[in-house]
Amino acid sequence: MKKVILAHRYCDEAVERLRRDFDLAVADEEGGLPACVPRHPDAAGLISFLSDPVDHDLISLMKRLKIIANFAVGYNNIDVECALERGVMVTHTPDVLTAATADLAMALILAASRRVIEGDAFVRSGRFAGWQAGLLLGKELNGAILGIVGMGRIGLATALRARACGMKVVYYSRSAKPRLEKKFGFARVTFLELIRSADVVSLHLPYSPGVRHLFNRDVFALMKRDAVFINTARGPLMDEQALADHLEANEGFGAGLDVYENEPAVNETLRRLKNAVLLPHLGSATERTRREMAMMTVQAVRQALGGRRPRHLIPEWKERLKATR
Ligand code: DGY
Repeated sequence: MKKVILAHRYCDEAVERLRRDFDLAVADEEGGLPACVPRHPDAAGLISFLSDPVDHDLISLMKRLKIIANFAVGYNNIDVECALERGVMVTHTPDVLTAATADLAMALILAASRRVIEGDAFVRSGRFAGWQAGLLLGKELNGAILGIVGMGRIGLATALRARACGMKVVYYSRSAKPRLEKKFGFARVTFLELIRSADVVSLHLPYSPGVRHLFNRDVFALMKRDAVFINTARGPLMDEQALADHLEANEGFGAGLDVYENEPAVNETLRRLKNAVLLPHLGSATERTRREMAMMTVQAVRQALGGRRPRHLIPEWKERLKATR
C-alpha cells in the first residue's frame, strides 16, 4: 500500500476513504507535519492545508512524492517551483468554495458598512435605550461603487451578490471580461481608477510575491476617506500595519478582514479598532463546502496514485502539461 500523509484529521469520511486505499499517517497524531514527514520519507501523497508551509526542505524529504493535494483554492503555502522541478503534482480545491467565500465577502461588506458588530456589542452591553435617529449610522450600499480587484470565480460571485444590493461594479483584472461587462454592466478600470472611485474595495487575487503589499500606505491614502476595504483573499496582499494606521487615523474608513499578513497573528492596533471587522479565516467554512474540499483532496490523491491525471491540478501544472504536449 502506498503511503499518504494527511496533515490534519478533519473529515471522518475522508479519513476512512484514505485508509481503505492507502497506508495513512495523520501528521496531527505524530507531532505535526515537520515531525511526521521525516518519519515517512516513502510518502507518495501529501494532503496539506493552507496553514501548512510545504517548502523545499519538506518536499525534498519525500523522495517518492507524486502529489500534494492542497485543501484550499489558494496554494501559496506550497513551493510550487520545487514541486514542478521534481515532477510532484499539485492540486487545489477550486469551484466548490466559490459561493461560501463570496457569501463571507458579502457578509464583511455588510458588517463593515452597516456597523453590525458594533451594534451587536452595543445591545449586549445593555446600552440600548430605544430607537434613536442618529444611532450607529452606516454607509448605504445601494448605488455605491464596488471595486473588485481580481475578477476570477470568487470575485465574480461577490460582484453578483453586491449587484443584488444595488451596488455598481467596477473591476480590475489582467484580462478583460467582455461577456460580464455586457451581461451585468460591470466596467473594467485601471487599478488607480478603481481605488480612487470605489466606495468598497474587495480583494480577490491569488497571492504571489509579485503582489505582496499591493495595498500599502500609498494606496490606502488614495482611497476615498470613507471607503471600506475587504480582504478575503490572502493577508500578505496588504500591508497590515499600514492598514491599521490608516484606519486609526481615519475613523470613517472601514475594513472587513478574513485573512492576515502573519496568520494566526493579528496586528494589535487592528484588534482594538471599531472600524475593522475581523474574522478568523472563515472564507470556505461551511459544513458542505469543507466536506467537499476534503473529498476533493482524497479524489486527487486517488487519481494521482492510481496513475491518472488529477482533475484539479493548479494552473502552473496545467501550463507545464500544455507546453510538453
Ligand atoms: C482558500 O481555499 O484558499 C481559502 O482561503 C479557504 O478559506
